[in-house]
Amino acid sequence: MTVLVTGGAGFIGANFVLDWLAQSQEVLVNLDKLTYAGNLESLASLKGNPRHVFVHGDIGDASLVTQLLAQYQPRAVINFAAESHVDRSIHGPGEFIETNIVGTFRLLESVRGFWQALPAPAQSNFRFLHVSTDEVYGSLAPQDAAFSETHTFEPNSPYSASKAASDHLVRAWHHTYGLPVLTTNCSNNYGPLHFPEKLIPLMIVNALAGKPLPVYGDGMQVRDWLYVKDHCSAIRCVLEGGRLGQTYNVGGWNEKPNIEIVRTVCTLLDELQARADGVSYAQQISYVKDRPGHDRRYAIDARKLEQELGWRPAETFETGIRKTVEWYLANPEWVAHVQSGAYRDWLSKQYTA
Ligand code: NAD
Ligand code: TYD
Repeated sequence: MTVLVTGGAGFIGANFVLDWLAQSQEVLVNLDKLTYAGNLESLASLKGNPRHVFVHGDIGDASLVTQLLAQYQPRAVINFAAESHVDRSIHGPGEFIETNIVGTFRLLESVRGFWQALPAPAQSNFRFLHVSTDEVYGSLAPQDAAFSETHTFEPNSPYSASKAASDHLVRAWHHTYGLPVLTTNCSNNYGPLHFPEKLIPLMIVNALAGKPLPVYGDGMQVRDWLYVKDHCSAIRCVLEGGRLGQTYNVGGWNEKPNIEIVRTVCTLLDELQARADGVSYAQQISYVKDRPGHDRRYAIDARKLEQELGWRPAETFETGIRKTVEWYLANPEWVAHVQSGAYRDWLSKQYTA
């Protein structure tokens, strides 16, 4: 058996690929465009593993995807590929429209062509799982109930609008064509292999480099944090047991204001790798201009996933954030290569060595 993963060289995709190959005997085909966010160094431990087939390419390349589907006959496609950073979407929304909307549309069409031609048992067992975000639901006021799966879509950034559009396409391909889809909408992830443009890895990396820790606005925006390995286990759970056409919210009931996250990172670094001058890393916190249209609060109600499929996160925020800080301290080379851009040479190194 084989699965096709898209975007498996990114943060969540790479964690998913590593976990999947450690737990299953199946072949995994990993299709990734290797944008700035794609990092094959994250998958270095898979070198020589015949069950990991890396393919450099775009989900929007219909002839490539059609050929891969025909060649590998996957039982499932799991779509992580996306442009994912809100700040980048504000500066340049074009790529977000191209990959998240047009790319998802093209992928759905390639998969539909493959799926429609499958013989009966393979056709009914096939799954297309679309990995999405809680940001499609918009922003909550402090007293509002957490997002359930029936919350209206009110996306506010080019990123969240493009993901919302992709979710609608996936839904429509099920209702119109019968494609057996599943969608997950997850809260903010954190953990190993996270590109240091996002809040938690940026704070760790900047703190260690003696740089300012930029907190947007008043730092009181609330996000709901989930350790990345728990997101991966939720995706495996939905893939195996989710009801066709359904969406499942994924979250760990861990709402925290940004400033608390930053202070927690500083406290852990103070304990694990104190500054030479003995001053807390918290001294480096610097309040900066807010992000335009900054969503105030996200919170996920994950009861459907918990009650229907029995999923539970394995980590609390306290255990997960400690593991994360420890991982960054133990992997300075990965961080240095991301910062210098050397990780982008990995493709040639990996395949010529
Ligand atoms: P990421 O930016 O770290 O990785 C995205 C990956 O997709 C990269 O490897 C990139 O090279 C690849 N990619 C981009 N465009 C592509 C294309 N056209 N064809 C093939 N590959 C392409 O993102 P991430 O944080 O790992 O997020 C993965 C998915 O999970 C995204 O769909 C995102 O919307 C969703 N999500 C992320 C979070 C989060 O907190 N990071 C939370 C919920 C949902
Ligand atoms: P981010 O990691 O970009 O995820 P998202 O915008 O998808 O939630 O940001 C998480 C929160 O941290 C968000 O409220 C913006 C804030 N933030 C900062 O305060 N400073 C920063 O340098 C970054 C990157 C984010």
